[in-house]
Amino acid sequence: MPKPAPPDSPEMNAPTPEDNHPRATFSRSDVPAPFVHPAEAEFAAFLDFYRIRWQYEPKSFPLRWRDGRVAEMLTPDFYLPEQDLYVELTTMKQALVTRKNRKIRRLRELYPSVSVMLVHRKAFHELLGRFGYGSVDITSLAPADIERILLSAAEVRNRVADLGAEISGDYANQSLVLVGLLKGITFFLADLAREITRPLVIEYLSVTGPDSSPEGVAIEKRLDTDIRGKHVLLVEDIVNTGLTMDFVLDHLRRQEPASLTVCALLDKAERRIVPVDVKYVGFSIPNEYVVGYGLDHRGLYRNLPFICVLKRHVYETDPSAVLHDLVSSNRVGRG
Ligand code: IMP
Ligand code: MG
Repeated sequence: MPKPAPPDSPEMNAPTPEDNHPRATFSRSDVPAPFVHPAEAEFAAFLDFYRIRWQYEPKSFPLRWRDGRVAEMLTPDFYLPEQDLYVELTTMKQALVTRKNRKIRRLRELYPSVSVMLVHRKAFHELLGRFGYGSVDITSLAPADIERILLSAAEVRNRVADLGAEISGDYANQSLVLVGLLKGITFFLADLAREITRPLVIEYLSVTGPDSSPEGVAIEKRLDTDIRGKHVLLVEDIVNTGLTMDFVLDHLRRQEPASLTVCALLDKAERRIVPVDVKYVGFSIPNEYVVGYGLDHRGLYRNLPFICVLKRHVYETDPSAVLHDLVSSNRVGRG
């Protein structure tokens, strides 16, 4: 693909202090290939962090022709395949912004099915919102507290759709009962159920965790309906040691369903103590504590759209200890 005339002015916005997105900073002299401008490299690092897939300048759009030859075209800096969105980074200089705006408008006229977005530094926030990362602000989770994003919102969405299709095929001509284990299952169950094209009933079960009492796992809330003779699909957020799952499967089996299978979004096989047969697995993940998309730490972070590992200090911060420190430092202060 021929490249258009030299890239527009390299004058990009300087980073602003309130702009706390995780990203690498590249100076003009160390811009890594294939990028021509530090802002492009930073944008790519930002996309990588959130596991948003990208391609750099994959396509040029002819915008104007003269004597049968292309006289003007636009090659957007990035294409995001999961969002089917082209992204053009802009400069601070008003004259160039105006020119680019005109080009983008022309592109939209000529190629109405193409989705393209003009982004300058400050608009990163708007872009985040589009991809569902706005909730990072709602939960007060600073990007600096995120160690690593394991699965992006798009990756989760695509995999859930695949699982739904697979389950729909396997249960052809049958109806089923989805049993979800509260509360981590909230979002996965809601999304999975809508991807299953069979008649289904949703039931919830609540258990206490394997470490929460000396007796181990126990039932907190039973099913509301009789599952005898029904096809039951137990839906779990994550299988770790397998203790919870083993207990729950035993509890359900006693109610004599026609069939009983398991679907787990995440599988930490490395941690398994009790073998459990998980027929449908969303993702196998390493032995790390994860939050987001229903999974919590101290009840928080369930509403993150992605699944991530938090920085160690977040897990280690005990709210009651923070309170204690505050109170005692106050006392010292009052002297
Ligand atoms: P298991 O009994 O050890 O298999 O633990 C399963 C339960 O522990 C799950 O239903 C989760 O509620 C919780 N759990 C295990 N690992 C994680 C994690 O990495 N993040 C959040 N919750 C987890
Ligand atoms: Mg759970």
